[in-house]
Amino acid sequence: MTSTYETLRERLQVAFDALEMGADPVLRTSERGDYQANGVMALAKRLSRPPREVAATIIESLDLADVATVEVAGPGFLNLTVTTEFLDRQLGELAADERLGVATAPNPKRVVIDYSAPNVAKEMHVGHLRSTVIGDALARIYRFAGHHVIARNHVGDWGTPFGMLIEHLVDLGEQAAASTLSIGDLDGFYREARSKFDSSDAFKGRSRARVVALQGGDPETLRLWHVLVNQSITYFSEVYDKLDVTLSAEDVVGESYYNHLLESVVEDLRAAGLLVESEGALCVFPEGFQNRDGEPLPLIVRKSDGGYGYAASDLAAIRDRVGTLHAQEMLYVVGVPQAQHLEMVFAVARQADWLPDSVRCEHVTFGNVLGPDHKMFKTRSGETVKLVALIDEAIERAFVILDDRGTDLDGDAKYHLAEQIARAAIKYADLSTERQHDYVFDLDRMIAFEGDTGPYLQYAHARVRSIFRRSGTPFVPGDAHFALAAPAERSLALGLLALPEAFTSALASLQPHRLCTYLFDLAQRFTSFYDTCPVLAAEGALRAERLALCDLTARALELGLSVLGIDAPAQM
Ligand code: ARG
Repeated sequence: MTSTYETLRERLQVAFDALEMGADPVLRTSERGDYQANGVMALAKRLSRPPREVAATIIESLDLADVATVEVAGPGFLNLTVTTEFLDRQLGELAADERLGVATAPNPKRVVIDYSAPNVAKEMHVGHLRSTVIGDALARIYRFAGHHVIARNHVGDWGTPFGMLIEHLVDLGEQAAASTLSIGDLDGFYREARSKFDSSDAFKGRSRARVVALQGGDPETLRLWHVLVNQSITYFSEVYDKLDVTLSAEDVVGESYYNHLLESVVEDLRAAGLLVESEGALCVFPEGFQNRDGEPLPLIVRKSDGGYGYAASDLAAIRDRVGTLHAQEMLYVVGVPQAQHLEMVFAVARQADWLPDSVRCEHVTFGNVLGPDHKMFKTRSGETVKLVALIDEAIERAFVILDDRGTDLDGDAKYHLAEQIARAAIKYADLSTERQHDYVFDLDRMIAFEGDTGPYLQYAHARVRSIFRRSGTPFVPGDAHFALAAPAERSLALGLLALPEAFTSALASLQPHRLCTYLFDLAQRFTSFYDTCPVLAAEGALRAERLALCDLTARALELGLSVLGIDAPAQM
């Protein structure tokens, strides 16, 4: 189906094109009319004509027959009011469409999304939470739009710290080390290794030798390294399960994967004349990057000790993603502190011709998670907060809330629901904040059934579903007519028809919060409708119409939540 927005935009475009080919009507939903086109003013300026006169010319040629009526307002806004006949037809099509009007991309792309990326033998912290939750929502949104998503979990599994980590593993004994790691005490393991490294010269010496053995491919060292990596990956997978994140073991392509490509990165940069030796290190100075003193900034590809760094594996990853995976778009869902690193890597890849201009490559940044004191979120003793601890705490709270509400569930069913609520609370709080903004991690607010929260939307959905459980007769979609006599019905109808725009806008801007805002607004429209328009007490055609609006609402909430990675249980 063609969405309401698209229908209006296409018709406006014809009229705008008549005055200037390709002029943007700038159509958006409005408070006053149902939709508003604001493109007249800019067009009038370009044509050096009075805006209201341009508006009048557009209206004359505008073919809105049976779709909407139009009025000029203010300096030249076009206010469009959709006709009931058109809404009726659109809702009929919506009811028959599993995708609720959301189109699939005409040209599906291969899209690499780099997200989560925790580090081996280090705890996943709240920074990884945002990357994981936002990255996974984007992956689901892209998939739903019909794109081919290739998730890449660029796990930190290589580098000098592995010398001390492996030696610590040897000291503890593999069995004991594995069990520490499997219960998720990754930071403890790392800390102990670090403190031995700092306090014992002998340990330091062994660690350094171990790094050399690792880089040299010594089989026993590699075996020990695998133990560390595998234990950590198993642990990360448990966290992903708890969060219901779609990342799987196949998506883990860590830094170490690119080792075999690093030499050619250096050789090809050298051949391209981009490599500069500086204090023993091999660097590229990409155009346009300077330090505070205005000196060119190096991207270090190979360190003076001969080891390759983080930048080298990122360069190799770009070559792999573009050259082998044939990515047409690449998203890096990584914290702001790495902005400069990524910009420099992208710039070098472009200069080396590894990243064609046709490939969209973006750093998808996000703000910080703050504690109740509005400072970086830490435990009371100042340590990083473990992700699992947060999820478990949320599940406990969900239990309490369910008990308070007098749930009649118990056992597995109750636990399952508590998990669904906990995930919704955590994910929605993260996704509904504008990506670049910080937010305060306040579990009480996040998990409440009231306000702009995940559990509120789940509850709104379950409440709509409950109407059908009580209705007595099976619901037959498709035989309703939408007269939309009550204002709240009309408002709900417009809300339902706006899902495709919300989805498209979230996709185009890489801002899942736009979908959250939409869903919250829809739930509120539903509440006004339900407060003023009796459903089960209505009769005949009116009952059928209202039930159909309820059905569409439940489906829109479920679909919207699902592309955000949030379950919509039928009963709460
Ligand atoms: N492991 C890194 C960290 O925890 C994030 C990796 C991001 N992805 C990338 N391709 N550099 O900070």
